[in-house]
Amino acid sequence: MRSEHYYLTTPIYYVNDVPHLGHAYTTIAADALARWHRMFGTNTRFLTGTDEHGLKIEKAATERGITPQELADSVVIRFEELWQKLDISHDDFIRTTQDRHKLFVQDLWRRLHANGDIYLGSYEGWYCVADEAFYTEKEIVNGLSPTGRPVELVREPSWFFRLSRFQEPLLKWYKDNPDCIRPKERYNEIVSFVEGGLNDLSVSRANLNWGIDAPETEGHTVYVWLDALTNYMSALGPLDEPLSQKFWPADLHLIGKDILRFHAVFWPAFLLSAELSLPRQVFAHGWWTVEGEKMSKTTRNVVDPNRLIEEYGSDAVRYFVLREVPFGSDGDFSHRAMIDRVNADLANDIGNLMNRVSGMTMRYFDNCVPAGNVDSEIATDWEATVAEADELMQNCQFNRALERIWAFLGQMNVYIDHKAPWKLAKDPNAADELAAILRTCLEACAALGSIVMPIMPDTSVKIAAWLGTEKVEPASFSRLKDGTRLGPLLPLFPRIEEDTKTERLAAIAREIEGDAVEETAFTPDPLQDETSIDDFFSTDLRVGLITTAEDLPKSKKLLKLQVDVGEAAPRQILAGIKLHFSPEDLVGRKVVVVANLKPAKLMGLESQGMVLAASDVSGLTLVDPGDRSPGARVK
Ligand code: MSP
Repeated sequence: MRSEHYYLTTPIYYVNDVPHLGHAYTTIAADALARWHRMFGTNTRFLTGTDEHGLKIEKAATERGITPQELADSVVIRFEELWQKLDISHDDFIRTTQDRHKLFVQDLWRRLHANGDIYLGSYEGWYCVADEAFYTEKEIVNGLSPTGRPVELVREPSWFFRLSRFQEPLLKWYKDNPDCIRPKERYNEIVSFVEGGLNDLSVSRANLNWGIDAPETEGHTVYVWLDALTNYMSALGPLDEPLSQKFWPADLHLIGKDILRFHAVFWPAFLLSAELSLPRQVFAHGWWTVEGEKMSKTTRNVVDPNRLIEEYGSDAVRYFVLREVPFGSDGDFSHRAMIDRVNADLANDIGNLMNRVSGMTMRYFDNCVPAGNVDSEIATDWEATVAEADELMQNCQFNRALERIWAFLGQMNVYIDHKAPWKLAKDPNAADELAAILRTCLEACAALGSIVMPIMPDTSVKIAAWLGTEKVEPASFSRLKDGTRLGPLLPLFPRIEEDTKTERLAAIAREIEGDAVEETAFTPDPLQDETSIDDFFSTDLRVGLITTAEDLPKSKKLLKLQVDVGEAAPRQILAGIKLHFSPEDLVGRKVVVVANLKPAKLMGLESQGMVLAASDVSGLTLVDPGDRSPGARVK
């Protein structure tokens, strides 16, 4: 049974980093589902967005010498552009720095407070900025968080949420709704975690400005997870408005398994306290590794979604991630597997079927749809295919839904081989039979072209343009009109030939290996001879602010900078950092400058100082003086 409305969400992504394959994965899955539900006529709403507050974002901005808002504004564009390239069809994009969100969070806070579930206390314990999560002493292993990242000791006044009060209500919710957390192992994991007891949760930070002000209290900002989770409701607007009335509770929160506890424990507890309905389901998918390794800076390059789209096309990327691993399990991305899938499932199975049918229609029917009765067994099989794929999709079993559709596709290729239209074409008495076979094939192509739309929207459009079909209900096997002249069939998925494949794989291996080898081969330079403190202090180091940066086209290494070191006018400094930075990355950054260096002429221009940087074989980083003012002494 389908409901009339369907509301699904992705996590909102942090803006401290540009989008990568992991982000693309959740969003592609959500998009496929949203499109699937819309195709069946359900009034669907699909939300994604960005998580822009918190210490993690503030720190990342400080490192780049810009404000958190500037950082968010620049990274959000990268997400929006990627979603466009991937044909993501979200209905709304929420940013937690928008007023509509901030006001909603403050309202929710007031509700929790009014219901007696928020109280002022004092927090003392461990906080992990990378996870934006509090951990107990027991959870810290060798000084690191359970996710293996650094933690810091925090001691400050804090507002607490009475999470402990919700242990029983949560357990009841899990029990009454066995599908509220999926897959089953994740459900079991959460139930046993909650059975183990819940501590109250610190929900405000006293020493962090980059957040939403907590109402009715001075100097506290709302804990970033209470802020972030609320996006799922704030995007629908006030509770009494039509969008919220229609779409809350959400049908599905799609997330990665890393953030399950926040979604399956904290979020429902906040909602219970606020007396709001709980989402129908949280589905936690698995984790991708890359070429067998955890995603790192280097492996991320080779799976930058933008690069994958350039190499394989958006539809192939979408197809691969949904087909390759069962949703819920971990998976490995490798270019070898990607190329094999493109060749086998896309170039071969679907590409060949469409090409064969297009070729035969041209050859035998002057590229027009022949009148003829479709094969009733195939039409019935199509109905069954759609029903089964629908059930699987509704269950987030994307790979199995695709397998089922591909089984039908495979059968069509067998049908053609078996019927051998090329033989019938030579027999003048077999004209009707040939027309019926071709019509069956064309209807199958049209039906397949429409059902793959949620996964491969671009391919679906190409097939519809070829056949001149419009949208009808998915199980239909009668989409074409007698005599319609077909359009051209644009190439769908070109085969990646063996030599190109070998070349590409070798280049990727070099890219990954290269960096790894260099990194392990790094040995620091030997130390300089001993020096006295007076000698050291004769070097005058100052904080500088880069006000302009220009390329020197004739130089391979130099950029021309104007750096404010607290004097009447900025200085001109020629810095040999062109291989590592583009001029626009530098403006607004704070650096450390050797300010009493004798001026030197480089490429005919005077350089009045030097910018400090640390480098090893894998890169170069400018020394960052943090927030200090231009001209401040560094010693
Ligand atoms: N901002 C929080 C989420 C708040 S939701 C109210 C956050 N953001 S994130 O940018 O770190 O994105 C996390 C999500 O990205 C994961 O839950 C998952 O959906 C996706 N992935 C990130 N890396 C991934 C892999 N390596 N593999 C698969 N998906 C992963 O957490």
